[in-house]
Amino acid sequence: MEDAVNNRERHSLRVTRTEPIADGIQLFELRAHDGGQLPEFTPGAHINVRVPSGNFRNYSICNDARERDRYVIAVKREVGGRGGSISFIDGVHTGDVIDVGAPDNLFQLDLSAPRYIFIAGGIGITPILAMIRFLKGSSGKPFELYYLTRCAEMTAFLDEIREMDGPNSAITIHHDNGDPANAFNLWPVLEEPSKAHIYCCGPRPLMDAVRDMTGHWPLHAVHFEDFGSDLVRPSADDTPFTVRLAKSDTSFEVPVGLTILEVMRSHGVDAPSSCESGTCGTCITKLLKGEVDHRDLFLSEDERASNLMICISRGRGTIEIDR
Ligand code: FES
Repeated sequence: MEDAVNNRERHSLRVTRTEPIADGIQLFELRAHDGGQLPEFTPGAHINVRVPSGNFRNYSICNDARERDRYVIAVKREVGGRGGSISFIDGVHTGDVIDVGAPDNLFQLDLSAPRYIFIAGGIGITPILAMIRFLKGSSGKPFELYYLTRCAEMTAFLDEIREMDGPNSAITIHHDNGDPANAFNLWPVLEEPSKAHIYCCGPRPLMDAVRDMTGHWPLHAVHFEDFGSDLVRPSADDTPFTVRLAKSDTSFEVPVGLTILEVMRSHGVDAPSSCESGTCGTCITKLLKGEVDHRDLFLSEDERASNLMICISRGRGTIEIDR
């Protein structure tokens, strides 16, 4: 067990249930060996798991945060991703014991908001489902949910979410059938700023669109989470490069499909991280030399001149970093 990974305490948890809940989406229930209490989490939290291939992935917890004896996650098989989700779905079975970091939350539900607008694209429903379950079981504050997916067969928790429609909740489920021309128009929802807080989780194009449409909203009222988005996928023009760690005077090759952070870890060099998708800022690292292909959503243009996020950004040729 690597206690330092992600700077969170880690635990061995038992997989007590797995089941497919939609095309390409598998649900996993995790509990302590003795069935006792687990470290607390709050709505929107995620856990970091070590997948059978040895890499680490973050998955949002989708059960109600008031449940103290289990974490439930749903994992989408990301064909064309970095392989973590496939390793997890194919390699983890009921009864297995897996290495899990204590929950962390980069997508906190602001409990002071009078109402909420939730926008979920595909598997981005998972943290939002935890929020809705929490709200329905506690304050009962009103919310709107826009759940945007390709088709009914690929929509996780479909029946449960349909049943959540009620006096304090307005639920819209939209399928685009894979055709961008059928994309749901969110502008009428976001055109007029209100006192609501917006929570959006889903693929990169959806989050970019919501970001563009909420520029006139108060900054503190618009929240994004992008686990599972295309941001962390390899792109066709990825090439291997060399990273030189100045402090230890060592160099590693970073192949296509692995990040700087993953390569460092595989050589026993650890670094703090959390989201591992370029959004939280935890893995910020000084760039000493070289050209970086920045892929994060955290650094400003100015900051990019001398920093990079090693969980996601890549280099060209050789880069040197302050590690
Ligand atoms: S770990 Fe969050 S930006 Fe790298």
